[in-house]
Amino acid sequence: MTEKIYICQLQQLADPGSHGFSVSHDEETIEGFVVQKDGQLYAYKNSCPHTGSPLDWVEHQFLDLDQAFIQCAVHDARFEIENGACVAGPCNGEALQRLAVLRQGDELFLQLNKP
Ligand code: FES
Repeated sequence: MTEKIYICQLQQLADPGSHGFSVSHDEETIEGFVVQKDGQLYAYKNSCPHTGSPLDWVEHQFLDLDQAFIQCAVHDARFEIENGACVAGPCNGEALQRLAVLRQGDELFLQLNKP
């Protein structure tokens, strides 16, 4: 069974751009962020594979200055936007945890697969 949880409006995201969210579901809180690049959407948990810390120091800001990579503000790790793979920094070779994002019209949803 698939469930969807509202994240935000598409207009809240620049291209390229990012938007953090926190949603509650089944007594669980999911902290994450969604990134738009070239019209494509990607979502990940807001948890750095280095220490488990949130990646952002500035709300909704998950991209580096060139907006080419996702950046962890704690120790400067860089991750590929398209797949969450860490390509530089202390967790090189690890990856962010991907979340499924669904666009319906102008609204973005987190898509959860439930057993
Ligand atoms: S916590 Fe993200 S690079 Fe260290």
